[in-house]
Amino acid sequence: MGIYQDQVLPRVINAVMNRREFAVIRGRVCSGLEGEVLEIGFGSGLNILHYPPAVTRVRAVDPAPVGRRLAAKRVAASGVPVEYIGLDGQAVPLDPASVDHVVATWTLCTIPDAGRALGEVYRVLRPGGSFHFVEHGHSPDPGVARWQNRLTGLQRRLAGGCHLNRPISQLVADCGLELTRVDNYYMKGPKPFSYMFEGRAVKA
Ligand SMILES: C[S@@+](CC[C@H](N)C(=O)[O-])C[C@H]1O[C@@H](n2cnc3c(N)ncnc32)[C@H](O)[C@@H]1O
Repeated sequence: MGIYQDQVLPRVINAVMNRREFAVIRGRVCSGLEGEVLEIGFGSGLNILHYPPAVTRVRAVDPAPVGRRLAAKRVAASGVPVEYIGLDGQAVPLDPASVDHVVATWTLCTIPDAGRALGEVYRVLRPGGSFHFVEHGHSPDPGVARWQNRLTGLQRRLAGGCHLNRPISQLVADCGLELTRVDNYYMKGPKPFSYMFEGRAVKA
C-alpha cells in the first residue's frame, strides 16, 4: 500500500482531476477570492491557475509530497505566491481570524475527521471571510446513498481514505459557518461517486 498510496495515487488523482469538466468548476469556486487564502488539500495545485490576481498569497496545506512535486511547475508559472504551511487540515498552523478565504476542492472526503478540519476553517477565517468549496458526498437519492454506503469501505482503501457518503452541507453548517449558497448536482460518471456540493459559507 505504501508505494501505491504515496507514489501512484497522487499521480492518478492529478491526471483524473485535471480534466476540463473539473476546471470549469474550479473557475467558479475560485471566483471572488482576494487577499490571504488558505487552501486545504492543495494536492497538485490544480486550482492555482484559477486564483484571481486579487489573491495576495495562498497558504497551502497537504500531506502528500508527490502532489507537491507535481504542483511545482504550476506554482512557478502562477503570479500568486504559494507558501506551504502544513500537512494536516485538522491542525492548521495559523492564528485565529488570519485569512480572508478558505478553499477546499474534493478534499473533505479524504480528511479523516472532516468536522475537525471544518472547525479549523472556522477558526482561521476572519469575521466576514468565506469558505469556497466543491466536494462530493452523500446523495439524497436513497438508491444512490445505499451504494455510497456499500462502496465507501472499498473506496477508502483504494482512494487514499476517500468517503463517498459524507453529508457535506450538514458538516459545513455544523462548524458554525453560514451557508450562503449550495448547488447540488451529479457530474458525469457513476452516481455514487459524482454527487456534488458546490458552495460558499461565511463566518458571521
Ligand atoms: C482527491 S485529492 C484533491 C486534490 C485537490 N484539492 C484537487 O482539487 O485536485 C484529495 C487531497 O486531500 C489531501 N489530504 C488528505 N488528507 C489530508 C489532510 N489531513 N489534510 C489536508 N489535506 C489532506 C490529499 O493529499 C489530496 O491532495
